[in-house]
Amino acid sequence: MKTHFILGVLLSICSLSLSQECREQLLEDVDFSGSDIQTVISPDVDHCQQLCTQHPACLFFTYLPAEWTQDNRNFFCLLKSSSSGEPEVKTPVQGVTSGFSLKPCRPDPRPCLPRMYPGLDFPGADYRALFTEDAEECRRACTQDPACQFFTFLNKGFTPENFSYKCHLKFSWVVPTLPIVERKAGLVSGFSKNAETTQGGKPVCQGKLFLNTNITEENVLVLLAASPGHCQNLCSAHTVCTSFTFVSDSFNCQLKVNSGPMILQVKAGVTSGLPARFCQPDNSWVNVALEGVHFRGNDFRNELTDDAASCQRTCNEDANCQFYTYVKPDFSDSSIRRRCFLKRAITMPAPPRVTKVDNVVSGFQLRNCL
Ligand SMILES: *[C@@H]1O[C@H](CO)[C@@H](O)[C@H](O)[C@H]1NC(C)=O
Ligand SMILES: *[C@@H]1O[C@H](CO)[C@@H](O)[C@H](O)[C@H]1NC(C)=O
Repeated sequence: MKTHFILGVLLSICSLSLSQECREQLLEDVDFSGSDIQTVISPDVDHCQQLCTQHPACLFFTYLPAEWTQDNRNFFCLLKSSSSGEPEVKTPVQGVTSGFSLKPCRPDPRPCLPRMYPGLDFPGADYRALFTEDAEECRRACTQDPACQFFTFLNKGFTPENFSYKCHLKFSWVVPTLPIVERKAGLVSGFSKNAETTQGGKPVCQGKLFLNTNITEENVLVLLAASPGHCQNLCSAHTVCTSFTFVSDSFNCQLKVNSGPMILQVKAGVTSGLPARFCQPDNSWVNVALEGVHFRGNDFRNELTDDAASCQRTCNEDANCQFYTYVKPDFSDSSIRRRCFLKRAITMPAPPRVTKVDNVVSGFQLRNCL
């Protein structure tokens, strides 16, 4: 009886450590059927493995490549999870590739994606187009524009021919965006100090904020932010944001594009400001623990910690953690008191769609490859 109990404990420790093992190898012609949590689009299996690594819940995946012919799910990257951490079913299927999340491997948070993809279009997410000599020059244009994450170039020979040599620069978020931010007594939320994307060589600046001020310009995009500093970080990372307004009641971060004058209006509870793309603002917002705020969802791990400060340290020390929520000892639900929930979102360049098109070349910026 007692030996059985000890064996059971040992087995559960073994399976726990097994799921935290670094497994980089890919399994060709193997389908991890079922256990799906989300489907994302990806141009190849290595990019799909990186997406699984960055997705909070993904532990393993199956990828259906360009050559897949059994149905039209080409480029599907099927993200999966199970309570044991292991695929429940492994089926031989010709042409698919499966593998594991690289979370236990201390993955590079900004992976270098050097491959060119001839014959693949990354449609959508365009913010600017120009004409370039070839795909290499288009990639250099993308690499030198901090907002550009990926591109599609139309070769000589593309039809209609008057679009040949066109280079489309494209955008996706590479700073963490929060899915749900809400007020909840007894919870404390904040960011990893690694959330700030420090780019060396930029002069230090304050980061311009106008307190109790609205900018009376239409919003081009509204998303959620934790604080004025976080909203400024989102505006700076966006392609065309020229100013922003943060509404503290609703956590709304309103991004604006004003080409004319900037009209400021006194408004309590609202902070506006300007992006900081060419300098390094003091990123004190990263260190602020927000009392009574819940960053709901996107958990990948949780553990018990003594207080919110040690929860933030735990988040700082885990390369996968971008933001956290800590449950204080007096929280209403006793089952999760003192739990530190570590959270993250996908922040690598990710095209929303991938399609096969003749005479085009797509690819990613090379800023992460230095
Ligand atoms: C571009 O080419 C197409 C066909 O090749 C033609 O119908 C169209 O008029 C051209 N557009 C311009 C602006 O010349
Ligand atoms: C800011 O001003 C604009 C234009 O008057 C208005 O539409 C918007 O609701 C205001 N925003 C806030 C947060 O008060």
